Amino acid sequence: MSYPYQIKSADEYKAAYKKSVDNPEEFWAEIAENFLWRKKWDKVLEWNFKEPKIEWFKNAKLNITENCIDRHLKEHGDEPAIIWEPNNPEERTRTVTYKRLHKRVCQFAQVLKNNGVKKGDRVCIYMGMVPELAYAVLGCARIGAIHSVIFGGFSAQSIADRLEDAKAEYIVTCDGAYRGGKDIPLKSIIDDALIGNKTVKKVIVYTRTRTAVSMLKGRDIWWEDEMDFAETQLEKNGSIDFPAEEMDAEDPLFILYTSGSTGKPKGVVHTIAGYMVWTTYTFVNVFQYQPGQVYFCTADIGWITGHSYIVYGPLCAGATSMMFEGVPTWPDAGRFWDITDKYKVNILYTAPTAIRSLMSYGTAPLQNKDLSSLKVLGTVGEPINEEAWHWYDENIGKKKCPIVDTWWQTETAGILISNLAGVTPAKPTFATLPLPGVQPALMDEKGNELEGNNVSGNLCIKFPWPGILRTTYGDHERCKQTYFSSYENYYFTGDGCLRDAEGNYRITGRVDDVLNVSGHRIGTAEVENAINMHAGVVESAVVGFPHDIKGQGIYAYVIFNGKHGDEEQRRQDILQTVSRIIGPIAKPDKIQFVNGLPKTRSGKIMRRILRKIAEGEMQNLGDTTTLLDPGVVEEIKSGKL
Ligand code: WT7
Repeated sequence: MSYPYQIKSADEYKAAYKKSVDNPEEFWAEIAENFLWRKKWDKVLEWNFKEPKIEWFKNAKLNITENCIDRHLKEHGDEPAIIWEPNNPEERTRTVTYKRLHKRVCQFAQVLKNNGVKKGDRVCIYMGMVPELAYAVLGCARIGAIHSVIFGGFSAQSIADRLEDAKAEYIVTCDGAYRGGKDIPLKSIIDDALIGNKTVKKVIVYTRTRTAVSMLKGRDIWWEDEMDFAETQLEKNGSIDFPAEEMDAEDPLFILYTSGSTGKPKGVVHTIAGYMVWTTYTFVNVFQYQPGQVYFCTADIGWITGHSYIVYGPLCAGATSMMFEGVPTWPDAGRFWDITDKYKVNILYTAPTAIRSLMSYGTAPLQNKDLSSLKVLGTVGEPINEEAWHWYDENIGKKKCPIVDTWWQTETAGILISNLAGVTPAKPTFATLPLPGVQPALMDEKGNELEGNNVSGNLCIKFPWPGILRTTYGDHERCKQTYFSSYENYYFTGDGCLRDAEGNYRITGRVDDVLNVSGHRIGTAEVENAINMHAGVVESAVVGFPHDIKGQGIYAYVIFNGKHGDEEQRRQDILQTVSRIIGPIAKPDKIQFVNGLPKTRSGKIMRRILRKIAEGEMQNLGDTTTLLDPGVVEEIKSGKL
């Protein structure tokens, strides 16, 4: 593989950026020439942000798996596509070459076909980080089914909601998943999620932990049996190839659920061609990937980072992508560094929360680690604080590795604002400059775009890039309201941002009621709804507070009138409820019981005040004159945890 579109200098970046703005269609057509199409596009871009309707590479035909796999087979078939490191470092590792990946994906596509899955059907995937997860995702893409991966930290109830929203008919799961010292019973959680479900026809179960599972006759089938059968079928045909379905550029590739400030999580929809071009282009440019390098993204495929930067982007680029089943602190806090040395990792992409967590163990876990293979470091998911940035730079990169701070979102498919490793300068705590094709705008309170430098406001994007979301599944109006209505003709990100004197961007965090806990996005309304499900709870209000490791922690104020248990037991009951309704990832760090919440005369909770108190700011609470009962504020202040 060579990448003619790889930007090699700051001047090339400037030129590419200018062209992407002056002549976006020509710019993206040239890049798209480097992919495999069954039929080329009639028009590169058609769009309006009003409806919104966005079409990239209109009427082009392709299959993304031919780009991720088949086109590498001839020259690079024996090179590793995926290197898998198991949770337990003593267990055998697995290296999946492009040839092997092709075989497995074809087999799994055949399995899906054998079980009645057709183009456009929704397949929900709830698995641990095993190579079979990648086969499942790519198998769906090969036959044109729409995958929806759900992170292993979500509860049965969350899965049930997503299955219903997506009207999913198929599930792929594992008996269990290993994560550090834990063994999570995935199949059993799926069984709970399926109580009362009317749409799911088949559940395919891959054996990982060999924990006891119930297998319902007619519904539940074993991955291994199905794969063996598919293999014989394919071999009988004389070729292991399963012909890829011809897909339209704008056919949906996947749905990924993400939280917002209101209601239930929404299913962000990405379509095939734009997603493919965007994730590959950004992967090659931001990380400056060179053929043969080993690239390690520590995310989980249950989140967008894993979709775009473990599976699709790197594989389209013919890269070697590491997949790690475990957690950074097990069996000890040196795990990432052991993996780095074991596989001679060249590029490491992780989250600030992981860096801060590892930092808290000091430098002892770094003793006897070489780390000299590292060339580029990256961060994603939340703003990185200065201290963590320098720790990463000094102790991991030994001050020779550029660090890319990559800002993006589930909705953007790939990185929008970031320096390009070693090509454009880094600036600690700044994501720095927009990628070619990305036109950021900062808005003031009145909804006007702020021109010039040294300004801060709400971050919008004013022109489509190929990876922009197309809709929210089953509810286009919600997509329009959430992202395209706050500012007319702009995509609104939900983030606050400043632009410095040189035009560098620094993301300052969410401006809506969305929390970022350890890089996971959680809506405060969602957590409140879950807390309110507890029988003893009258009302609750949830806000974020600064947390040394997680970035943000969850602080819940709860009015309680149940009579069971002491305060600590009630707290545990509430945590259990949140775990059941959303999942362990949404459990509040602090629960303060209160007698009242600060409300306006119209009954609206004044979160601003609660947020300040949770942050420890007791004096300047801002305007409190509109409060119905100012007395509650004093009570809350005195009971702060
Ligand atoms: C939100 C998106 C991007 C994939 C993982 C999270 C925050 C993300 C950065 C960064 C500051 C960041 C934003 C964004 N965020 N990257 N480099 N610097 N903030 O995806 O769950 O969709 O969350 O994460 O607030 O809106 P997500």
